[in-house]
Amino acid sequence: MHIHRYERWWMIFGLTMLVAFAATIFVAAIADNINPPSGAQRIDPTKVASTPPFDHPGLYKRPDGTYDAYYVAQVFMFTPSKLTVPLGSTVTFYVTSSDVVHGFEVARTDVNMMVIPGWVNDATHTFTRAGTYLLVCNEYCGIGHQNMYGTIEVK
Ligand code: CUA
Repeated sequence: MHIHRYERWWMIFGLTMLVAFAATIFVAAIADNINPPSGAQRIDPTKVASTPPFDHPGLYKRPDGTYDAYYVAQVFMFTPSKLTVPLGSTVTFYVTSSDVVHGFEVARTDVNMMVIPGWVNDATHTFTRAGTYLLVCNEYCGIGHQNMYGTIEVK
């Protein structure tokens, strides 16, 4: 079968681009160690309600004075829905989902995470301004998505 010279060049160009794109993905994933944001914290999404510490979501003080806040996202609520945090405190939010993909955004802060079933995501923020912060789900998760919110009171 005769393949025209230009057509052969074009095929070689196309295959070269495919290899280059695949190599880019592998380099990014392996060499740069790109993973879901929280890295390696897995959880069985069907057993969230019985897996510590998500069996008792809420705010916990660490020995160093900072806080851990454990949240469960599910259609169409966050648990806890209300949280009170002392002014000036540094809080690490840990969040997981027991059903579908949700969002976890604390408005007016840089806390903005995707909540993926099977994974625990985390983000840390220091609350230096008093007030009521809105916690919203920013991933469309179903018919009641717009009602999925909570509040964080800093005082
Ligand atoms: Cu949960 Cu949108």
